[in-house]
Amino acid sequence: MASVEIPMPDDWHVHLRDDDMLAAVVEHTARWFRYGMVMPNLRPPVQTTAQADAYRRRILNRVPAALSHFQPQMTLFVSHDLDLDDLGRGIEAGIVRAVKFYPPGATTNSDQAKGDLGEFDELFGRLVEWNTQLLVHAESTRSDVDLFDREAAFLDDHLAAVCARHPKLGVTLEHVSTAAGVEFVRSNPNVVASITPHHLSRERADLLAFGMKPDLYCKPVLNTAADRDALVEAAVSGDGQFFLGTDSAPHPTTAKYGPNVAAGVFNAPYGLEVVAEVFHQQEALEELGKFVSLNGAAVYGVPPSVDQLRLTRREAQDTIPERLRTSSGEEVVFFGVEEARLWHIEAVA
Ligand code: DOR
Ligand code: ZN
Repeated sequence: MASVEIPMPDDWHVHLRDDDMLAAVVEHTARWFRYGMVMPNLRPPVQTTAQADAYRRRILNRVPAALSHFQPQMTLFVSHDLDLDDLGRGIEAGIVRAVKFYPPGATTNSDQAKGDLGEFDELFGRLVEWNTQLLVHAESTRSDVDLFDREAAFLDDHLAAVCARHPKLGVTLEHVSTAAGVEFVRSNPNVVASITPHHLSRERADLLAFGMKPDLYCKPVLNTAADRDALVEAAVSGDGQFFLGTDSAPHPTTAKYGPNVAAGVFNAPYGLEVVAEVFHQQEALEELGKFVSLNGAAVYGVPPSVDQLRLTRREAQDTIPERLRTSSGEEVVFFGVEEARLWHIEAVA
């Protein structure tokens, strides 16, 4: 049976939510991940060091004692309300790890964002001084841009100019979803990209062609098979500019199954198995540790975990959990059940 040992991975992009959803989902990220880069798109968004610190404590309060290796890494939501002195203090104190830019209206709760990427030059100058990464949701919201071209348009219209004006600014192109995005990263040495398990393993036909699947609807939307292939190629290449960020984004079935489908794939439970299966299919399992454990840690300036996991392919299991229920009775569907049936993960003693 195929098998690989890797340092405990990090999830460099995750939505943990709050209250009873946080309580229900956090153990799924904490089970196999050391760090989680926690997105700030709550309502209201996480915008001050005090809010980040309080959110971090709420998260840690919900992590089961047996999973105390898990350490949330906090981010602040970019807007004109962001106080740069407060941000500087948060970074200095080790409470804030990065900032996240959302184009207004691009995705869940980003109606709260205000301002174009090009309006934050003062912030970007300070991020360079503080050696702190800018995390970018790269999607154009121009009404004349086709849905499937939104990432490429954002790179052309906004990110290219910011990278040219701030050549030392470290930028993470979050959940890169297209060949154009991969190409942009390769031609900009200070830009890196996170890639999700769903963008690596699915394409738009999976979403739309065999009965529309709300559980696969996310932003940026799954794109063409050729785009997915470019992402797979980047991930398995071992290139240090590409690493795992799951973008695990739980929504209750009441928000997923209806006339207005909420964007987000809940892949925290089985995201690692999905990525392992992609690497296995590419005969690249020996590169898995770079993508999920080493490359991102190097970008964010931390040593890899000293803990090790072993992943072993197995005969398909037929009974594994497929959804969870929150304390208020909401259900959330797990992504990647098919792949998870094929993999056993264990800590190496
Ligand atoms: O699909 C997504 N869901 N994309 C995002 O950028 C946000 C996320 C969420 O918070 O639900
Ligand atoms: Zn996200």
